[in-house]
Amino acid sequence: MKKILTYGTFDLLHVGHINILKRAKELGDYLVVAVSTDEFNATKNKKAYHSYEDRKQIVESVKYVDLVIPEVNWEQKIDDIKNYDIDIVVMGGDWAGSDKFEYLKEYADVVYLPRTEGISTSLIKDDLKKTK
Ligand code: CTP
Repeated sequence: MKKILTYGTFDLLHVGHINILKRAKELGDYLVVAVSTDEFNATKNKKAYHSYEDRKQIVESVKYVDLVIPEVNWEQKIDDIKNYDIDIVVMGGDWAGSDKFEYLKEYADVVYLPRTEGISTSLIKDDLKKTK
């Protein structure tokens, strides 16, 4: 069984999120998604609209996702790979070559998938502000 792991906030779930989850799942048999907690996002000065608990529930209900775990810091990734017996870590192309993921190549394959053009949580938030 090939196991895949990906990371993200997944706030205001959109088609870019669905596309990456679908393509990640297609690389193997079991998809683990580490969803950033509100506390971890706060350390990055990021604030999601939906709480961690709600984002967890939403991502869990996507048919490509087998398990959601919390992402609580930058350092947990090697432990996640070992604990969940991960074969491939998948991230969107915006992270390609980033030192946040490249070092994981010692522990699992690291695959960057192209982002879906023209959509992001930030864009949705900005557009909604404009149409108010
Ligand atoms: N992603 C993607 N295509 C998009 C948006 C996101 O493939 N159009 C991927 C990201 O590369 C990441 C995952 O989805 O691997 C989760 O991204 P996240 O940061 O939660 O979503 P964004 O929409 O990029 O959020 P923000 O605008 O706040 O950065």
